[in-house]
Amino acid sequence: MASDWLPQRCGKVKDMGKGFDIGLERLTAAGVPPLGETQEGGLKPPLQDAGATGATFYLETFGCQMNDHDSEKVAGVLLARGYRQVDGPEAAKVILYNTCSIREKAAQKVFSRLGELRPAEEKLTADSQQPTAEEPPKHNFERVVHGARAAGKSAQPGMAVPREANHPSLRKIVNAGGGKIIGVLGCVAQQEGEEIFERAPWVSLVCGSASYRKLPQLLAELEAGNRRVTGLDTDTDETFETEITRRDNPWRAYLTIIEGCDKACSYCVVPFTRGPERSRASASILEEVRRLAEVGYSEVQLLGQTVNSYADPSARKMRFSELLAAVAEARGIRRVRFTTSHPRDFGKDIVEAIEAHPTICDHVHLPVQSGSTAVLRAMARTYSREEYLEKIALMKAARRPISITTDMIVGFPGETEKDFEETLSLLDEVQYDSVFAFKYSPRPNTPSLKMPDAIPEEEKGRRLAILMDRQREIQRVRNEKLVGETFEVLVDGKSRRENQWSGHTSSNRVMNFASPERELLGDYVQVKVVSAMPNSLVGEMVGRA
Ligand code: 5AD
Ligand code: SF4
Repeated sequence: MASDWLPQRCGKVKDMGKGFDIGLERLTAAGVPPLGETQEGGLKPPLQDAGATGATFYLETFGCQMNDHDSEKVAGVLLARGYRQVDGPEAAKVILYNTCSIREKAAQKVFSRLGELRPAEEKLTADSQQPTAEEPPKHNFERVVHGARAAGKSAQPGMAVPREANHPSLRKIVNAGGGKIIGVLGCVAQQEGEEIFERAPWVSLVCGSASYRKLPQLLAELEAGNRRVTGLDTDTDETFETEITRRDNPWRAYLTIIEGCDKACSYCVVPFTRGPERSRASASILEEVRRLAEVGYSEVQLLGQTVNSYADPSARKMRFSELLAAVAEARGIRRVRFTTSHPRDFGKDIVEAIEAHPTICDHVHLPVQSGSTAVLRAMARTYSREEYLEKIALMKAARRPISITTDMIVGFPGETEKDFEETLSLLDEVQYDSVFAFKYSPRPNTPSLKMPDAIPEEEKGRRLAILMDRQREIQRVRNEKLVGETFEVLVDGKSRRENQWSGHTSSNRVMNFASPERELLGDYVQVKVVSAMPNSLVGEMVGRA
């Protein structure tokens, strides 16, 4: 990401019933044999672990799209070992949380979940500690993908899990039948390491994303009776590729092309939690894209914390823009997205690739973080306001309109009123189609933790509200200009209300529309905009695409 992760406003697929689960099944239907059977060519047969057959797992994901996709791969690894996925922790033998620590509140949620799983016999140690209220989901970054959210309050990281979080129904889970395996994956696992065992002794697996290659081995150790296992190395040059990925979205396939981050922004935990940059070989990416198209995916989204810093490790040495073009040319692929781009590595060649390939979506998420060069310098973002605006100018000069979205942080240490006004003026100047704005959250190990002139929480809140108001108005005006225009929409949601559907335009706008058709999910249709709101468009279907 320039931690810069793609906004997930678009991600949720609604009301798809069984269709939602067809990731693995699609592969099966397309010729991948059931678990344990062999196959010729294509995917290799999955490993079958007789000991694990029939065991169940529950996997809950917090955080960004990289985490969502990591969870799809983790699920693939478990399914290949003979596990079965269930949608609640009650029925699961293995309970896994794939965690996010980008901001403090995200990390707190994990300790809240762990508190819910505290066995009854555990002594309460946190009587005097107050849980904090759970942050309402302001945006979709912390969307839960696998399974439902359980009730419970948040605990402070660094403290024992509070009593209030010890939800009685979940407590039964750990006690009933015993032998549950509870694991913490992802960024909190990497950040807190073995300390998680101290705080929540009922956890038996702690594994950061840079060590996911070791997951099958760690699982085997747990199955063999080991009480505690960890995967916490970050000094790996491997990426996490799996033989089977259990994809949750039946039309849009996520594909990580670069993992980790070398950028070292002063506020960000990602370089610590996800390790250094590792890119996947271009041939392997292109092969996977071809297979995805063959089994029916029409949209692929290339993922990376800094996706455009992609550096092909193979002799082919494809540049990111060349890879983008090659993916766009794959037969059967109708939409290519990529996220998140870092401004420093964003060049004209990427804009040219978009211009030359209609299948590359006309949307770029280019996090700026601040409109003030002084703050950008303190953030170690490696560009000034003016340099960022040069990248914006490249996109504005493109032959077709490119929708631009961004991330911003308010209340960075030392941010003056004047700095903040420069951020507001950047909104006016760039005219973003969407902004994900966050209050600065001090994170462990990061250089900004020690910076002077912290901004009080209340003031951060005030600035955030002003920024969001200003941007809402910009979006309202921009979207209203689209009334009367017709867009191609990939339909990915069906409302409970009759004849109401939703989908996304190439620019990633949400379009709600009416159509009397009986089945449209997964189809590309033409929709004419009849009215507009700041975060979505309303239209009516005028034809098939
Ligand atoms: N505090 C607040 N926001 C942060 N982000 C990353 N680290 C922090 C932090 N410490 C934001 C950035 C990034 C997005 C995914 O999260 O805006 O682009
Ligand atoms: Fe993005 Fe900077 Fe964090 Fe890297 S260090 S993930 S570029 S915010």
